[in-house]
Amino acid sequence: MSTILVIDDEPGIRTTVRDILEDERYKVVTAEDGIVGLEAFRTERPDLIVLDVRLPRMGGMEVLGEMKKLRPDIEIIVISGHGTIDMAVQAVKLGAFDFLEKPLSIDRLLTSVRNATALGSLRAENRRLKRVVREDDAIIGESAPIREIRTLIEQAARSDARVLITGPNGTGKELAARRIHALGRRAEGPFVEVNCAAIPDTLIESELFGHEKGAFTDAVSRRRGRFEAAHGGTLFLDEAADLTPAAQAKLLRVLQEMRFERLGGEESIEVDVRVIAATNKDISAEIAAGRFREDLYFRLNVVPIRMPPLSERPEDVPVLCSYFLQKLAQTEGAPRTISPEAMEALRAYPWPGNVRELKNFIERLCVMSDEDTISAGTVTHFLGKSGRSKPKAGRERPLVPEEFSSLKLSAAKDFFEKSMILQKLRENGYNVARTAEALGLYPSNLHSKIKKYGIGGVA
Ligand SMILES: Nc1ncnc2c1ncn2[C@@H]1O[C@H](COP(=O)(O)OP(=O)(O)OP(=O)(O)O)[C@@H](O)[C@H]1O
Ligand SMILES: [Mg+2]
Repeated sequence: MSTILVIDDEPGIRTTVRDILEDERYKVVTAEDGIVGLEAFRTERPDLIVLDVRLPRMGGMEVLGEMKKLRPDIEIIVISGHGTIDMAVQAVKLGAFDFLEKPLSIDRLLTSVRNATALGSLRAENRRLKRVVREDDAIIGESAPIREIRTLIEQAARSDARVLITGPNGTGKELAARRIHALGRRAEGPFVEVNCAAIPDTLIESELFGHEKGAFTDAVSRRRGRFEAAHGGTLFLDEAADLTPAAQAKLLRVLQEMRFERLGGEESIEVDVRVIAATNKDISAEIAAGRFREDLYFRLNVVPIRMPPLSERPEDVPVLCSYFLQKLAQTEGAPRTISPEAMEALRAYPWPGNVRELKNFIERLCVMSDEDTISAGTVTHFLGKSGRSKPKAGRERPLVPEEFSSLKLSAAKDFFEKSMILQKLRENGYNVARTAEALGLYPSNLHSKIKKYGIGGVA
């Protein structure tokens, strides 16, 4: 049931409108002037406003402005009497949904109210759907550090404070930044990302602040920068430690004043932008080395968020695995599971590329293996191929290949056995009898191992 707030100084109008709307099963709240109306707007959270433009104490136009400021989506139907039509037209220009002339026509009133509430519920549905989509970007994990991160993100989202997100590669820095944006009041505004490390030094300033035509050789036309593009929303400065000294100096000034000029321009541009920065560098080391301005660091680091590496929270590995498997199942069909031994191997692995590496790995497993329950053999086999296990030159060669060293003995044995069988099968054209002979096994014994490891392609 929608609640409608009726603001009019004429008691007769208030009563008539209330009766008409209550007959239509709307809940009606009334107010006799602008101040009382605004108060009711705050306390009752109505879905729709019917507002007289001429009101004592605080004029209708002013009330409309205030309400739109507090809730830009609120629909307001304006009532105008004789001689105030101009104001009503003006009100529509300022975002009123419709205007009705006195004396009120019941039909016109009802049509307008129905249309406005229908639009309002469409909007609400739209917001709900957007939220559902956003759920998709949830930060998954049940470990203490990740719970703490989620709380920090929710707190940060409630304010406009600058946030500096640090942490190694693939720990979810960008995900965290997007989440802060999506949960905050700027969610409907733009989220503009700038990868400071990916933009050539000579272009970074123009990229951020824009330029006027002719500002430099290649500036053939005026261009708005990312700061302007992010107006009303969030600017995400990724890899911020890689900014050039000149860009750092200009950024510092912009953060102090929230205004700037385009390159080669005179006009001072004012923006309403929330800045979130991220880096995987050790920023104190960058400051100590004179590569990053300390004053800029203080400006950016109002709310520090440090994303912990996956190796500090191995208990999140299983949760993340099932999350990624479930997401994959949405597109690939049948959901897979991971055997307990395989999960043990995944937990034990150090994940130098953190969540990104884990996510890619799970995707790879699903492509490369057709097991419904992914086995330890498969996991260890592909973990060994991640390309990170090549022994470095000059170091003593370990007795056990590196990909085994993090495993429990049983998982390592399985991995070895499966790899050996696969290798011999390939060499023998997948002929079981010949492979069994080469391995010194009875064919029936080989068959059961092939089954155990879910090896495909065998006749
Ligand atoms: N806690 C998490 N829950 C779900 N997905 C995650 C989580 N952390 C990271 N991811 C996913 O891992 C991938 C890498 O995350 P993201 O790009 O945010 O990392 P990053 O810290 O910005 O990495 P880089 O330093 O390499 O830029 C993304 O696909 C992201 O959705
Ligand atoms: Mg990133």
